[in-house]
Amino acid sequence: MDNNRVYIFDTTLRDGEQVPGCQLNTVEKIQVAKALETLGVDVIEAGFPVSSPGDYNSVVEISKAVTWPTICALTRAVEKDIDVAAEALRHAKRGRIHTGIGTSDLHIRYKFKSNREEILERAVRAVKYAKKYVEDVEFYAEDAGRTDNEYLARVVEAVIAAGATVVNIPDTTGYCLPEEFGAKIKYLCDHVKGIEHAVISTHCHNDLGMATANTMAGILNGARQCEVTINGIGERAGNTAMEEVVMILKSHKEIGLDTNINTQRIYPLSRMVSGLMNMPVQPNKAIVGKNAFAHSSGIHQDGVLKNVSTYEIIDPKDIGLDNNSIVLTARSGHAALKFRLEALGVKLSDERLDAVYQEFLRLADKKKEIHDDDILMLAGADRAENHHIKVDWLQATSGIGMKPVASIGVEIAGEKFEAAATGNGPVDASINALRQIIKRQVTINEYTIQGVSKGADDCCKVHMQVEHEGRVYYGFGASTDIVSASIEAYVDCLNKL
Ligand code: KIV
Ligand code: ZN
Repeated sequence: MDNNRVYIFDTTLRDGEQVPGCQLNTVEKIQVAKALETLGVDVIEAGFPVSSPGDYNSVVEISKAVTWPTICALTRAVEKDIDVAAEALRHAKRGRIHTGIGTSDLHIRYKFKSNREEILERAVRAVKYAKKYVEDVEFYAEDAGRTDNEYLARVVEAVIAAGATVVNIPDTTGYCLPEEFGAKIKYLCDHVKGIEHAVISTHCHNDLGMATANTMAGILNGARQCEVTINGIGERAGNTAMEEVVMILKSHKEIGLDTNINTQRIYPLSRMVSGLMNMPVQPNKAIVGKNAFAHSSGIHQDGVLKNVSTYEIIDPKDIGLDNNSIVLTARSGHAALKFRLEALGVKLSDERLDAVYQEFLRLADKKKEIHDDDILMLAGADRAENHHIKVDWLQATSGIGMKPVASIGVEIAGEKFEAAATGNGPVDASINALRQIIKRQVTINEYTIQGVSKGADDCCKVHMQVEHEGRVYYGFGASTDIVSASIEAYVDCLNKL
């Protein structure tokens, strides 16, 4: 192990993908995994195989598709989970089983109705069991952030003696203060016998906005692996954002630590993940937000024009942000689209590229400039292909001094239906018309519209969350027409019921 190196463990496809509405299919996961490999991550956590056939399959397929990074599969400290994970990892060139159990008193008492000694025994048993299958076993002490340090040190010492090669210290609830989390890692370094035989890993959540600060505190106190996601996506407020930790280490050379990340691939991958997972990146997000390098105040602009380093600590090119991103118009050819998509890390089959090119031409007829986000959206937009409910046509009229009205024609399993309705706006009227046809109680809980780039001719993306019979479903739509995009998102939800 190189002690000046911080190993990057990416969990976008496991902890990140657990976010409701962000689920990817296996083909999309392979696309992200290959891009992570090109980025230079050390470990890809590909899924939790026992949790679903989809997760199992993704671990199998990513293991086949990826060469260099270690492929990791999550389990509970349960033999069945470990058997299934080992089976899913059978094609991995380097496979790792990530097993563990909650160690805080809250988890021990309420989740497991157990006691510290029993949990310690289960942890050791799980590591020994996983060792039968793979050499590389990572142990996680869930809720380590709120676990008593003395007990945590006993657990860590015992699992290392049982063969754990990596010990993961998650701040599962994002509760710790950076000083506290850094001190926890230092305590383990100072008190655990055999700690030199394992890599200490951080896994921080962002509930109080401290995930990156806690990860850095862990690294500065001896952790040499950090578990992160692209754009910081993850449960609740998310996980530590990979791009932030990587760029902190790159910018602060005095720390003397490095990663294997090719930082110029960060921005394209950020866009790819955002597009595929339908998860917008907030404009002021550090490193990859739209405004991260936009200087708008007069004083800042003046300084930047005199010398960029007055207000810019990172060269945008270092994260792969180039100023030539607006290159496509209706006259651009097939090859230009392919080139731009590949620069953004998206490789499509010839057949899929043809389909995306036709969509691109249709969009280019409606919009003067096609931005990276537009083509990423088109490249990920084949989800409607196998839909059971399809919209044939839609007409909505609205304006000042008139009642909005819409009529719609849909095809459900080959049968045609038509309806018309009014509403408080064109979207409401269109959805009311559709509701007359589907005759189901589907409530919209969340509805967000976001422009893809800029201009009145822009494409918009609609994210919707609906509820039906107590269950929640997510849908996505995109179009230059906000009513069409909204109906597309609603129909996407209906197709999942
Ligand atoms: O946040 C957490 O504790 C986790 C573990 C399962 C590693 O995601
Ligand atoms: Zn987590």
